[in-house]
Amino acid sequence: MANDSDSGSKGGLRKGLTSYGDSGFSLFLRKAFIKGAGYTDDALERPIVGIANTGSAYNPCHGNAPQLVDAVKRGVMLAGGLPMDFPSISIHESFSSPTSMYLRNLMSIDTEEMIRAQPMDAVVLIGGCDKTVPAQLMGAASANVPAIQLVTGSMLTGSHRSERVGACTDCRRFWAKYRAEEIDGQEIADVNDQLVASVGTCSVMGTASTMACVAEALGMTVPGGAAPPAVTSDRIRVAERSGATAVAMAKAKLTPDKIMTAKAFENALRVLLAIGGSTNGVIHVTAIAGRLGIPIELDRLDAIGRETPVLVDLKPSGQHYMEDFHHAGGVPALLRELKPLLHLDTLTVTGRTLGEEMEASGAGFKQEVIKPRSNPIFPQGGIAVLRGNLAPGGAIIKQSAADAKLMEHEGRAVVFENLEDLASRIDDDKLDVKADDILVLKNIGPLGAPGMPEAGYLPIPKKLARAGVKDMVRISDGRMSGTAAGTIVLHVTPESAIGGPLAYVMGGDRIRLSVKNRSIELLVTPEELERRAKSNPVTPPKAARGYRKLFLQTVTQADKGVDFDFLMADPANDRKPGG
Ligand code: FES
Ligand code: MG
Repeated sequence: MANDSDSGSKGGLRKGLTSYGDSGFSLFLRKAFIKGAGYTDDALERPIVGIANTGSAYNPCHGNAPQLVDAVKRGVMLAGGLPMDFPSISIHESFSSPTSMYLRNLMSIDTEEMIRAQPMDAVVLIGGCDKTVPAQLMGAASANVPAIQLVTGSMLTGSHRSERVGACTDCRRFWAKYRAEEIDGQEIADVNDQLVASVGTCSVMGTASTMACVAEALGMTVPGGAAPPAVTSDRIRVAERSGATAVAMAKAKLTPDKIMTAKAFENALRVLLAIGGSTNGVIHVTAIAGRLGIPIELDRLDAIGRETPVLVDLKPSGQHYMEDFHHAGGVPALLRELKPLLHLDTLTVTGRTLGEEMEASGAGFKQEVIKPRSNPIFPQGGIAVLRGNLAPGGAIIKQSAADAKLMEHEGRAVVFENLEDLASRIDDDKLDVKADDILVLKNIGPLGAPGMPEAGYLPIPKKLARAGVKDMVRISDGRMSGTAAGTIVLHVTPESAIGGPLAYVMGGDRIRLSVKNRSIELLVTPEELERRAKSNPVTPPKAARGYRKLFLQTVTQADKGVDFDFLMADPANDRKPGG
């Protein structure tokens, strides 16, 4: 370890040379091995840009990773650097059991440790599908090596019997039609071929698109990096520019802590709200900020929401798709509309400020997708924060995608104890449920399922769906897909699996939701709640070994980003970025 500080200050292959107590010999060995791949000394004397490659046969959202890696390499070499791609964990929403969220922190650890372990002066992070971008930004924040996010870009929309379709708001819509027996088996099979028309991430403003826009607003992508679809030449150019920019960042030592500041997170929350972004984005932004010791207060989010209108007309809050957002100018065009609300002095990966990049992006043009502030899609931000005796640590509702008639509502609770209970009873014709009841689902929080599944979008009971009921108030400690809509209260904190008040709701209790007053109240006395807690105490879940044990022992609640407690920055305990 004697030469640690000496080698740490040098870049390229010399970075992190600590082995054998002899840095000269360590470098000699390193060079000998890498030369096995045919490198010259000239190549090895250049700044090294790592490329985190998350291409995987299990992840069609990253199906263009090979082309992106090629383009990043070209950009790095044009700027005089040496590109080195390496594999890291890849997570797809549909192929990750029990949930993709369960694996997000594992991917963040992989990303952080591979950035730390391997010699690189900067890193380009290729991510896209929902949990991958937050995992990479969390890992990069903790490693604190110059880093740039490159998203894979959205998929194209498809066409079903002349109707435009895209994953996955339309997946849900068509499945609901099939359940209601409005379309037959042949049609549901036909549309299955069209919903995902190319590689790339979901084509609506789901979590992947939300996190792409958030990454750009944070300053962590090249300007205009969020919106180009996966299969376009624009996306490949973004990749080439990301490679070249990474070399400049390496030379300038432009680390994530200089870019992702408290002001940058405020900009990111503004954008999250103005795009009608996914509720999952709130958890991810909180987790990324937590790695830098920056708290995201739910009350601050709500205050920002009250003055930030939804401007982007994309499904599920509106009607368009990501490729339309790209044609309309993407995030730079949105930032122009939001300008008076933004901090313009935050740094971006280019080394210029957000304000300087906005100047450089030129004037807007006539388009239909990004509305002016004078004519918003929804007058307030997409997400409101609720509190009350049912959620002392907060809960959220995506008000832009909720039924206006249900946002002030009192009703009788119909309670499901867990996912199995829900599955076995929700479609039972004997279920005692009426349209103005409130559906409550327990045990789908961070520890509950575990991994906080996107099951907060409870289906409308079949007998009510058949009678034409489209929306009901639904409450849980889980999440919902960014592509879903309805009057759905999510992220109830603390969760039921650790004995939050939600655990003690009983069928027949009355619950009052008031989005106007930002409140969610269980109309049961404190004494009665205490009595229920005493007579039926909750035992938090445990596991005997492995990642599950680590997860259950250290995962935090939604208001802390569902990160592991020991990964969050905590200067008091000497846990800081790069430390
Ligand atoms: Fe990957 Fe939607 S499943 S972005
Ligand atoms: Mg999703």
